[in-house]
Amino acid sequence: MAKPLISSRAPALAGSARVPGDKSISHRALMLGALAVGESVVTGLLEGDDVLRTAACMRALGAEVERRADGSWRLFGRGVGGLMEPADVLDMGNSGTGARLLMGLVASHPFTTIFTGDASLRSRPMRRVTEPLGRMGAGFITRDGGRLPATVVGTARPMPISYELPVASAQVKSAILLAGLNTPGETTVIEREATRDHTELMLRNFGATIRVEPAEGGGRAISVTGFPELTGRPMVVPADPSSAAFPAVAALLVEGSEIRLPDIGINPLRAGLYQTLLEMGADIGFERRRDQAGEPVADLVIRASRLKGIDVPAERAPSMIDEYPILAVAAAFADGTTRMRGLGELRVKESDRLGAMARGLAACGVAVEEEKDALIVHGTGRPPLGGATIATHFDHRIAMSFLVMGMASGRAVTVDDAEAIDTSFPGFVALMNGLGSKIEASGE
Ligand code: S3P
Repeated sequence: MAKPLISSRAPALAGSARVPGDKSISHRALMLGALAVGESVVTGLLEGDDVLRTAACMRALGAEVERRADGSWRLFGRGVGGLMEPADVLDMGNSGTGARLLMGLVASHPFTTIFTGDASLRSRPMRRVTEPLGRMGAGFITRDGGRLPATVVGTARPMPISYELPVASAQVKSAILLAGLNTPGETTVIEREATRDHTELMLRNFGATIRVEPAEGGGRAISVTGFPELTGRPMVVPADPSSAAFPAVAALLVEGSEIRLPDIGINPLRAGLYQTLLEMGADIGFERRRDQAGEPVADLVIRASRLKGIDVPAERAPSMIDEYPILAVAAAFADGTTRMRGLGELRVKESDRLGAMARGLAACGVAVEEEKDALIVHGTGRPPLGGATIATHFDHRIAMSFLVMGMASGRAVTVDDAEAIDTSFPGFVALMNGLGSKIEASGE
């Protein structure tokens, strides 16, 4: 059943709110905890549907995974190479990260795993992982176009590879590095554009040998040495900067707002949105900067600001790939044109986000141009009309972006289905309304 929500003009937002744990780091914490020898305790894990699916999968692959009464998660790992064949199909739901990383993990184990997911995930490209993992020796049977459901026939004799990423993707990089854990020798991924490095940082933290060197011809080469002894450890997951983006932009757009968002991950390879907003004139403070288990974090303080349109460099895309939907909303309120380029990958996310944003903004009265891999938003410095009902295509970030749009637009904005928000940001509506927004169930 679809769950439509309506977001009306909000009074000034105020207060402090802890957004849920980082989705990328949560998936990896469960996977590495399941491979480590001994106990790992994870605090701050995101309990969104995507991550809960990964937790269930790690259990199906033989690890002990339990949620404790205090909200922390305890894992007891099997050791590298110790995973067992799952008794049933692994259903990854909406999660591209869960699916692609786990396909890597099982590819170098001598058993067969079958993956499926929801309609959105079943339409997303998987050849980007099956191709390099095939070179390592795994076999794959996929639907037409390399799509799920897919059967991974893991290999008993994995071969290390050196592989240059054809698309800037941390998921593909991570899938190969995770397969490399149970592979002799050194497995290397070359990336021309830097993508989020949570897998590398966490592997190192668990005791693996990771080498990062400049690559010949540009970019960097990341190598993992096979058969490391990973040892269980405590992990603290920072709050997700991609989730924080929604209350942060809301506070920038709603006049008179000032909010605090504590413990946000500010890994430079994730922080592109914040850099862009600062360039647009946003008032964002980074307080109590510190390091948490190898990841930099800070408390963000955001005050309502007048924004101006800018050109966002295409090279910045990997460091803010999930944030273009909410940046496009910010751009709609800015004075002047914002040009966002290098966005081809947005077409193969949980939905075609480039198309969904262009159509939704236009329906709200914003002048917008959609190109093959670019989005150009013409802001006027005045609040857009709003008043539209937006098709979210079961995409959490499209739903949250337009609910933020409604908080500062002329008329309320409705999203046709907000169900998907739980994949990454459970409690979004309560958190936003706690800060002062007016999001409620829509009768539509
Ligand atoms: C992620 C990488 C990105 C991002 C996704 C999470 C990760 O995907 O969009 O939400 O955790 O590695 P790509 O690797 O496809 O760019």
